[in-house]
Amino acid sequence: MAQPTPRRTWADLRLVLATDLDNTLIGDAAALARLQAMLSRRRDRVGLIYLTGRSRDSALTLLAAAGALAPDVLVSDVGTAIGFGPAYAPDPQWTALLAPRWNRQGVLRAAAGCAGLIGQDIAAPLRCSFHMGDAPATTLRQLSRRLAAAGLDCRLVLSSGCDLDVLPRGAGKGAALCYLQARLVLPAGAVLVAGDSGNDLDMLQLGYHSVVVGGCRPELAGALPPGVRRARGRAAAGILEALYHFGLAPT
Ligand code: GLC
Ligand code: MG
Repeated sequence: MAQPTPRRTWADLRLVLATDLDNTLIGDAAALARLQAMLSRRRDRVGLIYLTGRSRDSALTLLAAAGALAPDVLVSDVGTAIGFGPAYAPDPQWTALLAPRWNRQGVLRAAAGCAGLIGQDIAAPLRCSFHMGDAPATTLRQLSRRLAAAGLDCRLVLSSGCDLDVLPRGAGKGAALCYLQARLVLPAGAVLVAGDSGNDLDMLQLGYHSVVVGGCRPELAGALPPGVRRARGRAAAGILEALYHFGLAPT
C-alpha cells in the first residue's frame, strides 16, 4: 500500500473522508477505482480517516487486497484504537483515556453467564466482541443486567444483527472521530462521514455531512437523524453520490 502523503494542516483540506471499510469504502471494486481516481488527483487536499470494527492488521490486509489508498488515520477495533500513518500504532493518549474505564475480565465474567453469546477470536485489549445467536434482544437485555449488577459501565454496540461489541464508555467510532476533530482541528464543513451498519451510527449522528450507503443494515435504517443522506449506490458508489450531493467532490 502506498504511504499517505505528509501534510501540514488538516484545517485547510477540501475534503476529509471519514469512512467505514466493509460494505462502505470496500465492496464495489469498480466504484472504488472511480472514487480513488478522484481522490488521488487531489490527495494533497484530501484527508482520509478509516474507521472499522476490524483490528488494525485485519484492516491493513483488507486495504492491501482491495488496492485502497492508505489512510492518514486508521481507527480500528470499533473506535478503541487510533493509529496515525504510516505505522498506525495505537495512539497512547487515546488508550490512556479509555483504559481506566475498562475492566476486560469483569466483562468476560458477565458475558460468560449469558446464553447465546459466542466470543469472537480477537485479541483487542479494549473491547470484548461476540457473535449472537437467535434472540439478540433477549441476550442484550441479559448482558446489560449482568454488567450493571457488576458495576460495569460499558457501551453495547450491535452490528449486522449479530455482531456485539462491548466497549468502554466513551469509546466507539463517533467518540474517536470527536477526539480527532479536537486533536487535528478538522475542517468540520468539509468532513463526509460514511457507513452502513450499527457500529457506524454514533459517527453518523455527529452533525457532519453524512451518508449511509445502499444496502445498509436494518439496525441503521430506523435510527438515522434526518440530515443523513441515504444513497442508492452501494459501497464506494454511495460515497461518490454523497460527495456530489454535498458539493464535496474535490476538483
Ligand atoms: C468487524 C469485526 C468484528 C466486529 C464487527 C462489528 O466485523 O471484525 O470483530 O464485532 O466488525 O463491529
Ligand atoms: Mg460496514
